[in-house]
Amino acid sequence: MNTKIKTHDGRNALITGTGQGIGQAIALALAGRGARVVVTDLSLPQDTLNKIGSAAFGLQLDVTKEEDWQSVSLKTQELGGVDIVVNNAGYFPNRPIDELDLATWRRTMATNLDAHFLSAKYFLPTMKKKKWGRFVGISSNMVGLTIPGMSHYITSKMGIIGFMRGLANDVAGYGITANAVLPGLTNTLATASQSDEMKRATWEQQAIKRLGEPEDITGAILFLTSDDASFITGQALVVDGGQYRVG
Ligand SMILES: NC(=O)c1ccc[n+]([C@@H]2O[C@H](COP(=O)([O-])OP(=O)(O)OC[C@H]3O[C@@H](n4cnc5c(N)ncnc54)[C@H](O)[C@@H]3O)[C@@H](O)[C@H]2O)c1
Repeated sequence: MNTKIKTHDGRNALITGTGQGIGQAIALALAGRGARVVVTDLSLPQDTLNKIGSAAFGLQLDVTKEEDWQSVSLKTQELGGVDIVVNNAGYFPNRPIDELDLATWRRTMATNLDAHFLSAKYFLPTMKKKKWGRFVGISSNMVGLTIPGMSHYITSKMGIIGFMRGLANDVAGYGITANAVLPGLTNTLATASQSDEMKRATWEQQAIKRLGEPEDITGAILFLTSDDASFITGQALVVDGGQYRVG
């Protein structure tokens, strides 16, 4: 995102899974727009804290654990509460349906879906008092693709879209919006094991013929969490260079 104005001045934004990849890029982008960012991950995301400097506040948060959400919500009260939540942390092992076990299914749902509900439970009360808030859930364009071995992941990422639709209805009267962002294949450590040929086979299906970088995803999040997007809620925004078309 190249706009320099401080659209997020005075806002506190919590982002999950910021140790690397898309989550780190989102944290840097929000900080660049003037937000104070609460950067969280399974362990303290030190690299991200170093890159952002004094605008960042680091906390450990395993998104599958309710006690972690509760503890983080208490600690962020000292900052004046959280105005923006970006649920980015994800779990996405490839498991063909015959190899998929219940433990993997449950971990996928806990990481990719429970987190959204728990964040709403713990951060809505302050947002309601402030009459302003933003939830963004990082889904995936894979919900519309024909990639095998990802039934659990696709279920969870469709669930994020469903949750944002439902949440949007419940919180609209408080100036709070809830939307999903659906990235396409993005160049992160999570996709590093894919060969260049595999990646090329994906990005050749896009209108914009190159592999997405984490920074390509951030513009949608900056917009949806800004005042400019106050009339946009319950939506799913695809950010994939034009691979998956809806409607
Ligand atoms: N990379 C892609 O091609 C791509 C495409 C579409 C959607 N996505 C989605 O974007 C998000 C980020 O993807 P990425 O490629 O940056 O992933 P990544 O694996 O590079 O980074 C994910 C981060 O989440 C953290 N994390 C994992 N489990 C966690 C938990 N239980 N609690 C807290 N943090 C946890 C990891 O420690 C890591 O820092 C995911 O939700 C993913 O599903 C990624």
